[in-house]
Amino acid sequence: MSAEQKSGLTVIVLAAGGGTRMRSKTMKVLHPIAGRSMIGHVLTAAQALDPEQVVAVVGHQREAVGAHIHESFPDVVLAVQEEQHGTGHAVRMAVEAAGQMSGTVVVAYGDTPLLRGDSLREFADEHEAAQRAVSILSGIVPDPFGYGRVLRNDEGDVEAIVEEKDATAEQREVREINSGILAFDAEFLRDALPRIGNDNAKGEYYLTDTIAIAREDGLTVGAHPIDDVMQTEGVNDRVQLARIGAELNRRIVESWMREGVTVVDPATTWIDADAVLGADVTILPGTQLLGATVVGEDAVIGPDTTLKDCEIGPGATVVRTQGVLAVVGTESIVGPFSYLRPGTVLGARGKIGGFVETKNAVIGDGAKVPHLSYVGDAEIGEGTNIGAGTIFANYDGVEKHRTKIGKHARTASNNTFVAPIEIGDGAATGAGTVVRHDVPPGALAVSSGPQRNIEEWALRKRRGTAQASAAEIALAGGRDDDQGMAES
Ligand code: UD1
Ligand code: MG
Repeated sequence: MSAEQKSGLTVIVLAAGGGTRMRSKTMKVLHPIAGRSMIGHVLTAAQALDPEQVVAVVGHQREAVGAHIHESFPDVVLAVQEEQHGTGHAVRMAVEAAGQMSGTVVVAYGDTPLLRGDSLREFADEHEAAQRAVSILSGIVPDPFGYGRVLRNDEGDVEAIVEEKDATAEQREVREINSGILAFDAEFLRDALPRIGNDNAKGEYYLTDTIAIAREDGLTVGAHPIDDVMQTEGVNDRVQLARIGAELNRRIVESWMREGVTVVDPATTWIDADAVLGADVTILPGTQLLGATVVGEDAVIGPDTTLKDCEIGPGATVVRTQGVLAVVGTESIVGPFSYLRPGTVLGARGKIGGFVETKNAVIGDGAKVPHLSYVGDAEIGEGTNIGAGTIFANYDGVEKHRTKIGKHARTASNNTFVAPIEIGDGAATGAGTVVRHDVPPGALAVSSGPQRNIEEWALRKRRGTAQASAAEIALAGGRDDDQGMAES
């Protein structure tokens, strides 16, 4: 091989199996953990090897699995294994679908979401340094049941892998197991695959038979036990899905704490793999930071807050809030009990307060929607204050319309803005106003009629009630001796 011909690296990810124990309409490897599909985690780890090509073997529900892989990892080559005749057969399908293969081939499974790129890297490096035909990423486990066992001779050299169903009672005692992740010299793999038979308990073509084949050929094989065996643990049912999901979350939360994030209660904090947190962020109990959520430094999130694909500015405070695809500016305050729907953009030092729902709403710097409001399809200028209990009536039953409010406006309580309308800079409204027409800059809009008092109404219409007697005493200028206000 010439110096320029750098030996390449191919990763093959097996994901053709049915995963029937999930009892799910959704293919096993498509189930999400920490905001990513299981196979998404494995394909992300594979990127750490900087591979020349990645091949995913799909079979069961290959349309769904293939479409998912194609969308998230467009460079991954798909190989179809119509019927599942074993891991050796699956890898054969991958090799047929792959382009020119040279150097190292790493085989992994699509259902091991804890697998890390640096572990794969270390394993591949060791395999290459030892110039082996095959390397096994093995693990020492207390209960090896169900796994292929790594058989070593008296010198400790790896001789073969024997599957659970084919193992003798003595072989079953071996606690060094095949994690399923193997590294091959590409040339050896191509030569060995057609030599694998299926004369075994399952009648399958076992990829693990390549170990014995290499030994027969006098080639070097070896096993590299991984310390953190959990990384190679597969998910087969929903109990394992939850357990591995919790473990991945524990690892993600811990790594953010090491990066300088305060997490008050790691047990009730959930952070997806793609979320990014700044230094000195504080996460209070019961918080979920999902999807591609980004939290700027010094922000305080929670308690009891769920943010998906949100961007929270530095120093912002977000309390008891549900948010999706929303942006909160620097040092802004949100919550408690706020619902930020997609398209919400709050500027710097603004406020979205209690029981406020926002959607497609661009709220300027320093602008405030403090209480009990619905803000949909709106633009609110900087420094404007929206009164309590305001409804942006954006929907006429057929179409959505926008409301635009200028800068430094002061709208009063219990307003309805019937879109489409514009309220100018520095404008104001009276309490209870239903704004149906544009308000020019600086104008005060009032829509309710003048107040009319019908004197002594309660005395006539509520005769004999506590209401009537209270009114009577007050009108007489007397003292209210009867504090009871009991209902008769
Ligand atoms: C396999 C290994 C075993 C190892 C264990 C680790 C073999 C023969 N055995 O056993 O040594 O300890 O994994 O978990 O390799 N798959 C396909 N096509 C197939 C068969 C399997 O794509 O025809 C995929 C499955 O979807 C799965 C993976 O390969 O992701 C492993 O298959 P599985 O049937 O679980 O193998 P095990 O019997 O567990
Ligand atoms: Mg298995």
